[in-house]
Amino acid sequence: MMNIENILNKGTSILKASKIANPYLDSEILLSESINRDKKHIILNPKEILENKQLNNFNSLIERRRKGEPIAYLINKKEFWKNEFYVNENVLIPRPDTELIVDQVLKIYSKNSQLQILDIGTGSGCILLSILKERTSFYGTGIDISKKSINVSKFNANRLKLDNRVKFYNSDVDNFKIGKYDLIVSNPPYIELLSLKYLEKDVVNFEPKLALSGGFDGFSKIRKVISKASTLIKKNGKLILEIGFKQRNKVKEILKKEGFYINRTLKDYGNNDRCIISTKI
Ligand SMILES: C[S@@+](CC[C@H](N)C(=O)[O-])C[C@H]1O[C@@H](n2cnc3c(N)ncnc32)[C@H](O)[C@@H]1O
Repeated sequence: MMNIENILNKGTSILKASKIANPYLDSEILLSESINRDKKHIILNPKEILENKQLNNFNSLIERRRKGEPIAYLINKKEFWKNEFYVNENVLIPRPDTELIVDQVLKIYSKNSQLQILDIGTGSGCILLSILKERTSFYGTGIDISKKSINVSKFNANRLKLDNRVKFYNSDVDNFKIGKYDLIVSNPPYIELLSLKYLEKDVVNFEPKLALSGGFDGFSKIRKVISKASTLIKKNGKLILEIGFKQRNKVKEILKKEGFYINRTLKDYGNNDRCIISTKI
């Protein structure tokens, strides 16, 4: 018979043998998911005997983790800004660096402004929904080329009780024509072809290529987003973009050509250029 302590040790050693970075922590998270108890319960009850069904759940999650599948996909959730988002293999796992966009929007726009926001490449909906949750007079539209990701963003809108202020469309940014926006946000796919294979295995083997690949030079989606944004944005509206750490100067050039004034660029937690704020003039 296996108790909590035994099974945690077993999970940890399997993950360690497969060179997973945080074997004990991951085992705790996966056990907590398998037995539907929080981490505190696990720490306080090392001798609790587990049922077969719980052990089977745990073993199959450990097996998936051993092969590199990210924790967020195994437990179908990820914290972003102030909320928990449902995620699955059809959406990019929200990254802490992307919270920069939310942070900037909240700094720029006061509580009582009435804004129409467009999020291009919305994925899980994490950026748009976080903003709407904080600003009750804002309205949002999210688009994504992936139909399956739109199902996820709709599900998250519903869970966060935001359905009445948000619309999601399954559309390629190239074909989208609806509305005029005060603010456009986007975290487009921006990784260049040659760098894709050097990403961590967890990322490249499991996250959607559509969410990562920025084409041959990494700029193909950014270009589309900027040129489309320039037609969908109101005069004096703002475009806030996440970019790759070597893309700042080129993106600034593209923005200027499309009629945007560059307000500022911001660095992420790792001190890399990560976000550009611009205004349509
Ligand atoms: C880097 S992910 C960002 C997801 C989410 N906004 C986030 O920050 O976590 C980029 C998203 O853009 C979508 N996408 C890629 N090409 C697109 C296109 N041509 N039109 C619309 N969306 C696109 C992908 O499906 C993916 O969901």
